[in-house]
Amino acid sequence: MLLSNLVHVGLLLGPGVNGAPVQEKQEKQEVVNLGRNFDLTIYTNNVRYPAPYLKRKEFELPWEDRKSGVIQTIISNTKNGPSLVGLQETKYQPLKDVLRGLNAGTTGDWVHFGVGRDDGKKKGEYAPVLYDSNEWKLLNGTTRWLSKTPLEPSKYPTAGSIRIVTLTTLEHRKTSERVNFINTHLDDRSEEARDYGVRLIDSYIQQIPNSYPVFLSGDFNSVATDPAYKLAASALSDSSSVASKDINANLPSFSGFANASGTTIDFIFSKPGINSTTQIDVINHEVIDNLFDYGHRFSDHRPVLASFSLIH
Ligand SMILES: *[C@@H]1O[C@H](CO)[C@@H](O)[C@H](O)[C@H]1NC(C)=O
Ligand SMILES: *[C@@H]1O[C@H](CO)[C@@H](O)[C@H](O)[C@H]1NC(C)=O
Ligand SMILES: *[C@@H]1O[C@H](CO)[C@@H](O)[C@H](O)[C@H]1NC(C)=O
Repeated sequence: MLLSNLVHVGLLLGPGVNGAPVQEKQEKQEVVNLGRNFDLTIYTNNVRYPAPYLKRKEFELPWEDRKSGVIQTIISNTKNGPSLVGLQETKYQPLKDVLRGLNAGTTGDWVHFGVGRDDGKKKGEYAPVLYDSNEWKLLNGTTRWLSKTPLEPSKYPTAGSIRIVTLTTLEHRKTSERVNFINTHLDDRSEEARDYGVRLIDSYIQQIPNSYPVFLSGDFNSVATDPAYKLAASALSDSSSVASKDINANLPSFSGFANASGTTIDFIFSKPGINSTTQIDVINHEVIDNLFDYGHRFSDHRPVLASFSLIH
């Protein structure tokens, strides 16, 4: 593979990072989609880790009982066209459960990219990217730790937990459309760590060696007045502020398990590719309620969805 091709395809550093199936036969593709629009949906949900009995909140069901709600809501919101999913707080086994559920409930072959944050393998929470591999091809992907040593499992000094960002470049098989999709979960304890995390993510976005559009989803643990949110919203465009249609705008993304009022801390941002003339039209932004099974909630967060039209 020629180096010039490599530079057109992917995201940052060396190929094959974290076992990404780097595409060996990439035809170099310039602006082949001129004049055609491409619509896609980005869906994000913090699904809450599978808390053991003593750690469960009031009204929280065990993961075994919550997972069908998580899965069915993904299925019903991704079936109408090209979709990419970012999850947070899922551990290895719950992630397998979700993929199995998606594959049982759709005609797709859903897979994930991403690793457990504790060891860069299967340990700890993932911030995975999920996609139907019949629909999308992963061109490249990598994980970075939101710390001073981002190449290895590590924690920012003031952070409560190890935190990661998952970076992918994907190609839609039918149309050859390519996008960069990034998913993260910022720290809950330290504003300094969240701020550092967003700066690091923005620096990776600025270094992306391709001109495909960028989508960033996640649980930012930040309300709109927090520095981390403000930084992200100045570097990228928050779908909820620019969407032509904002559905359930009054539903907070963090719900807890009871029926208390919550806060909005989960977002989907977008940004046109570097040097690209492709515009991003944000069609919808939606907070999806997480009530299922006679008034239980399938997570303490509601899923957030944004649908986009890429206009060439
Ligand atoms: C893949 O991504 C890495 C870093 O994530 C980047 O350095 C490299 O150029 C990309 N490779 C390809 C084949 O796109
Ligand atoms: C964007 O354009 C500048 C100036 O032509 C060039 O140096 C840079 O490599 C381009 N970046 C990308 C990602 O295409
Ligand atoms: C929360 O509200 C829903 C919908 O009104 C209801 O079915 C459920 O029982 C309530 N849950 C709790 C814990 O009060």
